[in-house]
Amino acid sequence: MSRWRAVAPGRVNLIGEHTDYNGLPVLPIAIDRAIRIEFRVTGDAAVRLHSPVERFAPFAFRMRRPIEAADRGDWSNYVRAAARGLLEHGIDLRRGIEGTVSGDVPVAAGLSSSSALVVASALALLKANGVGVEDGTGGGAGGGAGRAPDEDPADKRPPAKTVSRLELAALMARAERFAGLRGGGMDQAACLHGVEGHALRIEFEPLRVTPVAVPEGWRWVVASSLERAEKSAGARDAYNERARQCREALRGVGSGYRDLVAEPGLDGVLRRARGVLAPALFRRFRHVVTEGRRVALAEEAMLNGELGRFGELMVQSHASLRDDYEVSTAGLDEIVEIALEAGAAGARLTGAGFGGCAVALCEERAAATVMEALATRFYAPRLGGPPGRDAMFAAKASGGAGVTAAPPPPSPPLSAVPALPSPSTAPAPAARSRGTGNRPATDPTRDWF
Ligand code: GLA
Repeated sequence: MSRWRAVAPGRVNLIGEHTDYNGLPVLPIAIDRAIRIEFRVTGDAAVRLHSPVERFAPFAFRMRRPIEAADRGDWSNYVRAAARGLLEHGIDLRRGIEGTVSGDVPVAAGLSSSSALVVASALALLKANGVGVEDGTGGGAGGGAGRAPDEDPADKRPPAKTVSRLELAALMARAERFAGLRGGGMDQAACLHGVEGHALRIEFEPLRVTPVAVPEGWRWVVASSLERAEKSAGARDAYNERARQCREALRGVGSGYRDLVAEPGLDGVLRRARGVLAPALFRRFRHVVTEGRRVALAEEAMLNGELGRFGELMVQSHASLRDDYEVSTAGLDEIVEIALEAGAAGARLTGAGFGGCAVALCEERAAATVMEALATRFYAPRLGGPPGRDAMFAAKASGGAGVTAAPPPPSPPLSAVPALPSPSTAPAPAARSRGTGNRPATDPTRDWF
């Protein structure tokens, strides 16, 4: 029986933070850390998955609308979100999957393990149902170098339908809101469009992805603040509040962010905004427009191989996220400071903030020194020893998500997955839903991934 492996990478955003939901570009890399689903296709339209990690309990659900939310914080919600998104897109999910989820994207670290799980689930379900994934990248992007192939040449069945990577990225960005916060779409697009050795300029409305080659010898050190960036409760509310403030600021200024960032000098824009916005709103606004401008400058610096300039922009980005957007923490600030003192060209928090990770840009020969300084000055006092491989690592710009044939198993103990009721009885027992219809029952969070 064929077995498959869906692999979806996490991402590190290099610059362009809290800009995606304001319709402004971002510049992340997909990284060499991924969520994997090893699965076989089943004849019934159900999903049965388990994980070797104990706290991720095995689950099963039927792919029949409405797919209801499990309890808040339950990891199955990300898989349910993917199935729900595909069904809503009109994809007929008659066959299901059964298998194991594993991975090495640190969880709740701002590295998008949640979106990687959503994307891996979607790819597995598409594969199970003979739907091909095309490499369309929206005009801007070139090839998919380093991307895992989607189709096994041995599988000759014509796909029932195809979906493009861009379509899928947009679809999964919407779908993930079922399980998580109202993110802007960067994570799913980076996960699906990663290109080895390249950063990705991602634009929104409409979604477009353009790979930008990372110059030889640039190294990205990722360092965790050891504070979980859990987008539940406080962090989720703070994230959503920022998004609301950005919309409110825009109403005050009376123009779109894209037009504002495109104005020749930002001084005039900022002067106008200062005149009409309350101080806190003005600071949020200033972060968004200056960050929008920095993304374009950073891309230019990358294209020109100007490491120092790119680093400077990262430092400015961090200061703006700390002072104007107020999403940094003391731990993230300290990592940035240590990395810079140890010779990094630039460093900043990456992802939503409120904990999670920082990323530092270093010349190849400085990377070891920067990591050593972080180990001694940041981790040793907190951990009493060196950081583990999830706390600090050098990330490589890597290929995007895909499905390949998997080697035969050590067969997973699927007996651990709860049984489903007979098809006539619904809903599935693992749903533990508190909701009605397609609406998530509880205020959804993404505090697991
Ligand atoms: C989270 C969201 C993204 C983006 C970042 C901040 O990762 O999922 O869409 O908004 O925060 O840049």
